[in-house]
Formats: sequence, C-alpha cells, structure tokens
Amino acid sequence: MAAPQKLVIASGNAGKLRELSALLEPLGFELHAQSEFSVPEAEETGTTFVENAIIKARNAASLTGLPAVADDSGIEVDALDGAPGVYSARFSGPGADDARNNALLVEKLRSVPEDRRSARYRAVIVYMRHAADPSPIICEGSWEGRITLEPRGDNGFGYDPHFWLDSHGCTSAELDPQEKNRLSHRGQALRQLVERLRTGS
Ligand code: IMP
Repeated sequence: MAAPQKLVIASGNAGKLRELSALLEPLGFELHAQSEFSVPEAEETGTTFVENAIIKARNAASLTGLPAVADDSGIEVDALDGAPGVYSARFSGPGADDARNNALLVEKLRSVPEDRRSARYRAVIVYMRHAADPSPIICEGSWEGRITLEPRGDNGFGYDPHFWLDSHGCTSAELDPQEKNRLSHRGQALRQLVERLRTGS
C-alpha cells in the first residue's frame, strides 16, 4: 500500500482538524495542523472568501512544502449589503468575540422588518497541491436563513443563536451537531472537497 500523502491544514482549530481527518484519512491522506510546523497564521487581507482561503492555503503550503487545505467562512446579511461577510469574525472591531459581534448585528437590524432580514452563511474550502498551484480546487457551500433579534439555542458558535431556519422553525444553535453538519455551508463544501479528491476532478 502507498504511504499516506501528508496534508497540512491551515488552521489551529482542533475541531476542524478532527473533522477533516475523519473524512480525508480514508482517501489516503495524513493530516497535520500547521501549528505542528510552527506556521504562523496568514493575515486575511482578501476581500472575498476565495481570496482569504487561498492566502491561508498558500501560506501553509509555502512554509511546509506540503499540499494544503484552508477554509474561510462568514455570514452575509442582505439588509447590510452583504456585511459582515469576510469580516464576520472581526465585525465588532478590536477585541471582537461572538457576544459583541451578535450584539452589533442585532443593533444594526433592530429597525429592519423580519421579512427583510435574509442572510446566508458561506464557506469556501481550498486545496492547493503546492504553493504555486495555478488551479487550486475550490469548493463552496451556502446556507440560507434569516436573522432573528432574540437569540435561541446553545449549540454551535458565532452567529448561530441568531440564524433562523424557516425550514426547521429553529435557529442553527438549536440543531444537533450532526444535523448542522448535514445542512451547513461548511458541510456542503467539505463533502464537495472529499468527492473531488476522491474522483480527481
Ligand atoms: P473564519 O474562521 O475566518 O472562517 O471566520 C468565520 C467567522 O464567520 C466565525 O468567526 C463566525 O463569526 C462566522 N461563522 C462562520 N461559520 C459559522 C457557523 O457555522 N456558525 C456561526 N458563525 C459562523
């Protein structure tokens, strides 16, 4: 049997590493966090999810000499012209955290009627064979919802307590993790990546 192909994940998040390992190890990949190679986090200077994911993957590939996978995600709110978008994690400025970001989101949408609070999560996952790869594999997922001003649910993270799903009559913070995975932007992009690596397309 061929030796597993080492792959570096451009993230320090242990949860992401576990989730990706479970999906990619059966395909013959051996995953490593970029922290194992002391790769510093790349500055997310792009203005699109695709740009930021490529910046992160290229940084990891270039500093390790290995193929790299990176993701970028966020929430787009139509009444805010797509904000916070790529700035979702940094929405409330220096010292931003989930509580402050959600408080700012609610403040900005307080006078917007419910039927105009449409929003979607987006995720992009990029696979680069090497740092100079001219045609990275780019996988995207999106998940439609609406922003509710009253938080509900304790699961998930980020904007989940305010992300209302008409289809389920609850927020994404009220879904169990498996169900969220099945529906979510990130789950969609991940399944696409697995399929494209499996089939070489
Ligand atoms: P990233 O780590 O640069 O991709 O930043 C993603 C940010 O977008 C997170 O910090 C959250 O604020 C938001 N986000 C992305 N996906 C989700 C999700 O599934 N639930 C809640 N918030 C999310």
